[in-house]
Amino acid sequence: MRRWIPIVIAATVALTTTSPASASLTPANATAAWPTSANPMAASVASANVTMASSAGATSRGVNCARVKCIALTFDDGPGPYTAKLLDLLREHRTKVTFFLVGQRVGKYAKTTRRMARDGHEIGNHTYTHPHLTSLLDDQVRDQIGRTQDAIHRATGKEPRLMRPPYGDTDERVGAIAAEMGLPQILWNGSSRDWELRNTGAVTKKVLGLAKRDRVILMHDIWPETVKAMPKILTTLEKKGYHVVPVTSLLRGTQLTAGEIYPVGGWN
Ligand code: NI
Repeated sequence: MRRWIPIVIAATVALTTTSPASASLTPANATAAWPTSANPMAASVASANVTMASSAGATSRGVNCARVKCIALTFDDGPGPYTAKLLDLLREHRTKVTFFLVGQRVGKYAKTTRRMARDGHEIGNHTYTHPHLTSLLDDQVRDQIGRTQDAIHRATGKEPRLMRPPYGDTDERVGAIAAEMGLPQILWNGSSRDWELRNTGAVTKKVLGLAKRDRVILMHDIWPETVKAMPKILTTLEKKGYHVVPVTSLLRGTQLTAGEIYPVGGWN
């Protein structure tokens, strides 16, 4: 039985699982008003809709997460020098994931970005320079998101329909801007802490330990140890009956609204 934990806990999780560039972060943010739904009721209604969605919505790949055990692997902060290798591996395993790209890296790895899209992976916006969005002015937040939309559009011909705030650092104001730009905010409920571990065996163990149906796992394809951990992670998840999917496949065909946060604090 899944129990839903108030939105405050989601905030705490997001803010304590920081990502690479700055592990030293902001207890101040933890007390900031939380997202689009400062109203926790709205958040639980949204999450209930997400989990109780009809079982009819199979994804484009034919994986129906209402019927089979799914897990979403998400890769942030790329594209980078190891991303192509990861794409090879994902192709071998016929597996699709979600990448949250940093806009300023996309030009340098335009070919890799194009391939990501062509191979059917989901691409999200992870801002242009990976700042703490809550510390920026409104127009700077718009600029961070907008420039990244443009960079990804230039590389792939399509704009992302999701964003992930760096460090999971968001608040009501950032949520409102994401909403204005038409983008749901994707967080996670399992962190590989791969930027800290920087060890293939440890990352493998951590991710397999986090594996649970419908979880959204945070990883980073900019670290070689993480990419090296992937063959065993994929093989083991497959043996355990998991289908590795892009994050929106967990929604069973329902749509997130712009600015909405997913996942909202649901874990064992
Ligand atoms: Ni990041």
